Amino acid sequence: MKIYWDGLAHGAPALPVSLDALRERARLALPADAFAYIGGAGAEKTLAANLADFDRWQIVPRMLTNIATRSLATTIHGQPSPAPLIVAPIGLHELYHAEGELPAARAAAARRIPFTLSVQSSRTIEDVALAMGDAPRFFQLYWSRDRELTRSFLRRAESSGYSALVVTLDTRLLGWRPRDLDLGHNPFLQGKGLANYFSDPVFRAALARPPEEDRTAAVKHFLGVFNDPTLVWEDLAWLRAQTKLPITLKGILHPDDARRAVDCGVDGLIVSNHGGRQVDGSISAISALPAIAAVVGKKLTVGLDSGVRTGADALKALALGADYVGLGRPCVYGLAAAGESGVGWVLDNFLAELDLTLALSGLTSPAQLTPDSLRAVA
Ligand code: FNR
Repeated sequence: MKIYWDGLAHGAPALPVSLDALRERARLALPADAFAYIGGAGAEKTLAANLADFDRWQIVPRMLTNIATRSLATTIHGQPSPAPLIVAPIGLHELYHAEGELPAARAAAARRIPFTLSVQSSRTIEDVALAMGDAPRFFQLYWSRDRELTRSFLRRAESSGYSALVVTLDTRLLGWRPRDLDLGHNPFLQGKGLANYFSDPVFRAALARPPEEDRTAAVKHFLGVFNDPTLVWEDLAWLRAQTKLPITLKGILHPDDARRAVDCGVDGLIVSNHGGRQVDGSISAISALPAIAAVVGKKLTVGLDSGVRTGADALKALALGADYVGLGRPCVYGLAAAGESGVGWVLDNFLAELDLTLALSGLTSPAQLTPDSLRAVA
């Protein structure tokens, strides 16, 4: 209603509600290489399937239930949260805003929606924490080949008030991304998205000269350690022993992997295919969810991202067993179009649409959603 009343007084809103239109604003605001980096792997078929496969389920609204009082409130990793929503980790915000991660972190903090800071951020773990005050935040790790560096990142995240660890498993190697390849553009080679590495005592100690003096050598060192392609399930015991933070594994798509996640004592998993940026042709996240939810039940906290755009998408994911959803690209569009207020616009609209969709489906809380709230399209 706020948008309608504002419209009556001042005309149309400054930013479009439609995410397609907001994406177009972002495209116009950004250099070609920064916009290309938002793309997907290969022919972007998985990126498309992530969106299209939400249509394989339809909501069945129920009538004559009292929906006057409603709440989206829930808990995520045992912490109270105003909605079943987090901001997904997105690296290199400097591609989209001069202040890097700070505007998006502030927008999330103002709404107390957990902000997930990518380890590949443009601002440090500490700077982002400072901008967020006591607001909830998670830290996303690419598990470095240098275990001391990984340990250092964990210590820094813990002492800066990050309350959960998101370990992304699907990026052992960078995916095949034609939009970037066509421009010959890899921002990491320019030293972007490396603030946490360049500021880290363990990383710096491994260099002959500091990054400020020899950036190329520092970038090369990063490329050598950023991830560890030898990692296997048994290694998780080491990570578990390093931190008391809840650990959630991002990138799970197979029910057997979900079973292993339960067995190895982590706290959660995120059903995700990295927004179709890694394995083109892979299963969509929403299609993977039902079998994983069946295996996991209530044993782990289950998140889902990759393709979530609308309140209806979120409702479907929650009904199929997710405890929360992650919003990725829409936040980037808002950031590029209008900084902090653009991300706020995206989050507010998303939450309003989720609340409305829930209410118009006859429900007052996400906890009431079950697979019975949906019908599978034949
Ligand atoms: C990502 N994603 C990502 N994930 C992660 O764990 N660490 C990271 O640094 C990044 N960086 C990143 C950059 C960009 C430009 C995009 C679009 C995505 C993946 C992200 O967390 C999430 O899984 C996807 O964005 C979900 O797909 P949709 O819903 O945004 O299409």
